[in-house]
Amino acid sequence: MSSPSGARAHWSNRWAFILVTAGSAIGLGNIWKFPYMTGTNGGSAFVLIYLACIIGIGLPLLMAETMLGRRGQSNPVDAMRSVAEEAGAGRWWQVIGIIGILGASLILSFYSVVAGWILDYTVLATQGFSGLGKAELENIFTGLLADPWRLVGWHSAFMLLNLIVVIGGVTGGIERANKILMPALFAIVLLLLGYGIAAADMPAAIRFMFHFEPQAISAPVILAAMGHAFFTLSLGMGAIMTYGSYLERGTSITRTCLYIMLADTGIALLAGLSIFAIVFAQGLEPAAGPGLILQTLPLAFAQMPLGKLVGVLFFVLVSFAAWTSAISLIEPATSFLVERFAIGRKAAVAAVCFVAWFIGIAVALSFNLWSEIKLFGLNIFDLLDTLTTKMLMPLAGLLIALFAGWVMKRPHVMEEIGLTGGAFRFWHGTVRYVSPVAIMLIFLNVIGVIG
Ligand code: TRP
Repeated sequence: MSSPSGARAHWSNRWAFILVTAGSAIGLGNIWKFPYMTGTNGGSAFVLIYLACIIGIGLPLLMAETMLGRRGQSNPVDAMRSVAEEAGAGRWWQVIGIIGILGASLILSFYSVVAGWILDYTVLATQGFSGLGKAELENIFTGLLADPWRLVGWHSAFMLLNLIVVIGGVTGGIERANKILMPALFAIVLLLLGYGIAAADMPAAIRFMFHFEPQAISAPVILAAMGHAFFTLSLGMGAIMTYGSYLERGTSITRTCLYIMLADTGIALLAGLSIFAIVFAQGLEPAAGPGLILQTLPLAFAQMPLGKLVGVLFFVLVSFAAWTSAISLIEPATSFLVERFAIGRKAAVAAVCFVAWFIGIAVALSFNLWSEIKLFGLNIFDLLDTLTTKMLMPLAGLLIALFAGWVMKRPHVMEEIGLTGGAFRFWHGTVRYVSPVAIMLIFLNVIGVIG
């Protein structure tokens, strides 16, 4: 709870910060999106570029966003206002916080609908997929998308799960939930990996993901990898800034962010390897796209030994990952409402969840009743996805890089980031030059100039 005295909540220790922020980062992006993007973008070429983007652009920006939040010790808007003031810069830098709050709330609205599919499949998995063939599994997925009540029902259930956690507060809710869900998530990933090694085709998965094929690298692959590096690390949307604002002074931002990045990348790679090992062992196609874990994988679960158990574990894993990410999308707007307008935490969380839930209904209907409603040729789901992950996230990332690299005073940056000498110059140089250029390239691709 925020106290009127102005003392803000803080994570219990640096491990708690690492855990909750890894919880935000590790989500549908790692276990749903990363494997299917790897599958459709040619495997290893995408993986290698993705790794380069994570290290070269993602980690430096993760550090920058955490740094701004901790320096500001406030919700994203007020944090940006105070760091801008300290730097003698204009108040308009608050726009970074505003973009974050709006963007996070919009992402939450469609993230929750997709997480709802996962909850539906978790229940299906408990009944097992055995006896179902390719056509039947496709029908199950298209049947789910065509059913507004089922989509809205699961979307509502997922939103409720998040509301319950975030209402509990920073340590009593968010930290507590992550302390239970994240160890369970790590354990399930290891179990799946063990299964992949013991009973599936791990060598084929390793070949697919790591066999270097330079000719498969192309501009679209690079841009897809760069965009995904942003999404998977939860960058630019105020989530990292808000979590960073609950971090105590004196904790090493470099070290904690390094661990968070390693956890996020590690889970994506291990989940990808396990999924492809299972897919290849059953002679299935890796390039199914978004249906990879919803159509291809259940087909493997239907045929393989222990398929039912592995299927349930898998969808529980994805549900937990989605849950710990969604709660981080609620906190930026919540902290803003609580601190700026002195609204009680419960009411603030309820308001944020209600708005996202309401927009989410339109997202759910865009798969069926409203599928014809289009703007720029995109339905509501694609529109929100494009607006947030392809436009607002890179825009906020660019502004964060420019602010941290060029506007904030160097001694303040050094003090907060805790680096000196060559290590500082390397990080600072990356944030000043590499990140803005890379992000500009993503933009030019989005608006169709390149790519
Ligand atoms: N990183 C999460 C994932 O990989 C999604 C997510 C959570 C996110 N919080 C975010 C994305 C903030 C962008 C911004 O699924």
